[in-house]
Amino acid sequence: MTDIIVEVARLEEIIDVRHQVLRHGQPRSSCYYPEDNYKHTVHFAAKLNNEIVGCASIYKESHPDFSLKQSWRIRGMAVYEVFQGRNIGTQLLETCINHAIKQKAHVIWCNARMSAVKFYKNSGFKIIGDEFDIPDIGPHFLMAKNLGIHIGQTRFVEIAKKLLARKNPIPAPQAKINIEKH
Ligand SMILES: CC(C)(COP(=O)(O)OP(=O)(O)OC[C@H]1O[C@@H](n2cnc3c(N)ncnc32)[C@H](O)[C@@H]1OP(=O)(O)O)[C@@H](O)C(=O)NCCC(=O)NCCS
Repeated sequence: MTDIIVEVARLEEIIDVRHQVLRHGQPRSSCYYPEDNYKHTVHFAAKLNNEIVGCASIYKESHPDFSLKQSWRIRGMAVYEVFQGRNIGTQLLETCINHAIKQKAHVIWCNARMSAVKFYKNSGFKIIGDEFDIPDIGPHFLMAKNLGIHIGQTRFVEIAKKLLARKNPIPAPQAKINIEKH
C-alpha cells in the first residue's frame, strides 16, 4: 500500500470519519465532543493519496475517577472499514502517544470499545477496572498506558486499579455486610 501520512488536522476535516465509523446512523452533531475545544487538543488525520482515511484526537484531560497528573486522553479513534487491519490505526495511535510523550505526559488513557481492546493492548495499553456500558455504543473498558511514571507497567496497573476502586462507591449490599461484620 502507498505510504500513509499522519498529520495534524482541523476538526471539520475529520468529522466525516468520526461520523461514519463511530456514530453511523446517529446525528452528525453527536460527533462533536466537549473536549474538542480544550486548549491543548490536537486532531490527527491519516491520509492515503491525500484522502483522509482515519483519525484520532488527543486531549489533556484526567479521567474523573483516576486523576493522575499529566494525563492525556485519546478519543475518536477511527479508520474507514475498508482500510481497517492495515496498520493505519496503529500509526495514528503511536502518533498520539508520541505527542503525549513530547508534552511530558505521565499517563495516556482512553475508553476503549470492547472490540478495540486488542488494538490498544498491542500498543501497550492495559485494562484498568471493570467493563462498563456507554448508551447507544456498547461495552467499554478504561485502558491506560504509563508513559512517565518510574515504575513498571504491572505496578502501574495495580496503583491505577486502586485509584479507580477508591473513587467507585462500594455497592450498597456489600457495604451493609461489612458494617454488620464489625
Ligand atoms: C480500532 C481501529 C481504529 C483500529 O485501526 P486499524 O487500522 O484497523 O488497526 P491496525 O491495522 O493498526 O491494527 C490491527 C489491530 O487492530 C485490531 N483490529 C483490526 N481490525 C479491527 C476492527 N475492525 N475493529 C476493531 N479492531 C480491529 C486487531 O486487534 C488488530 O490486531 P491483530 O492484527 O494483532 O489482530 C479500527 O479498526 C476502527 O476504526 N474500528 C472501528 C471503530 C473503533 O472501534 N474505534 C475505537 C474506539 S475506542
